[in-house]
Amino acid sequence: MKVFITRVIPDAGLQLLQNAGITVTQWTEKRDLTPTELIDACKQHDALLSSGANNIDANFLNECKHLKVIALLSVGYDNVDVKAATQLNIPIGNTPGVLSGATADTAFLLMLAASRKAFYVHKKILKGEWKFFDPTTDLGIELNGKTLGIFGLGKIGFELAKKCMGAYNMKVIYHNRGNNEEAEEKLNAIKVSFDELLQQSDVLSVHTALTPETKGIFNTTAFSKMKPSAIFINTARGSIHNEEDLKKALEAGTIWGAGLDVTNPEPMAKDNPLLDMPNVAILPHIGSATVDTRNAMSVIAAKNTIAGLAGLRLPHIVNPEIYQDWSKISC
Ligand code: DGY
Repeated sequence: MKVFITRVIPDAGLQLLQNAGITVTQWTEKRDLTPTELIDACKQHDALLSSGANNIDANFLNECKHLKVIALLSVGYDNVDVKAATQLNIPIGNTPGVLSGATADTAFLLMLAASRKAFYVHKKILKGEWKFFDPTTDLGIELNGKTLGIFGLGKIGFELAKKCMGAYNMKVIYHNRGNNEEAEEKLNAIKVSFDELLQQSDVLSVHTALTPETKGIFNTTAFSKMKPSAIFINTARGSIHNEEDLKKALEAGTIWGAGLDVTNPEPMAKDNPLLDMPNVAILPHIGSATVDTRNAMSVIAAKNTIAGLAGLRLPHIVNPEIYQDWSKISC
């Protein structure tokens, strides 16, 4: 059995694959594969382990319907046409849970960096603009006792809420379709409407999946309902906020600041005006980028691949409905 991997992945996952007797090909070039290159490579393999935002759309899936499994090195799967994969009976695996702490750390880092203009003032040092102590310049805002609003309170939002409560005694409100009973019980989190979330949050952090419903939901209308002192944080997917609307809201002082680990498009252009704004902190999608987390993600992706190639149920499956008609499922 052969797996094609679209990036070099950590050894932990690689070794599992090799120990299982699977032949591994890794794409080692420092650029994304073109759609045609990806199809051509997958035609020579039985499984795909996909790292990065490869477009796994209906065209790709129809060309590669022989694949026994597609294992993602991510928790997010908005780059996959899951419906088409399900119709073709291709199991899609992802890596939930293991990246929650690291991604919450990234949101916390951005919140703090935006609140103290950290990235902006660092750039001033590099430009030789640290001349004297000025007691009225580059002042930030404090977080103690403020309200953290979470849009999409799942595992990552839960971890962020814990950190914000421990560090700054922040009150937690959230907006989800359902209730997060664990968060309500353990963190005293209060479920609110979307408008209430916008109106009451001092820091509003996005932790939802990108779906047709969430795409562009943070737009001019949403920003106009937020506090002028609010900080907007997005570590989920760049398309959940409208970048032009965010820029205008920051310029106009409709909201105070922003911290982004995700942009639209990625990579962000180096001359994007958001990069020069004082109250903005931007990172290049490093949410899960720690040694521990990436090792753990590679292990889960490898286990999903091994299970899929053996015709077994994936330990972490995005489209479990493909198993509904199977009479012989091994778990
Ligand atoms: C994820 O796992 O979805 C992260 O955003 C990394 O891509």
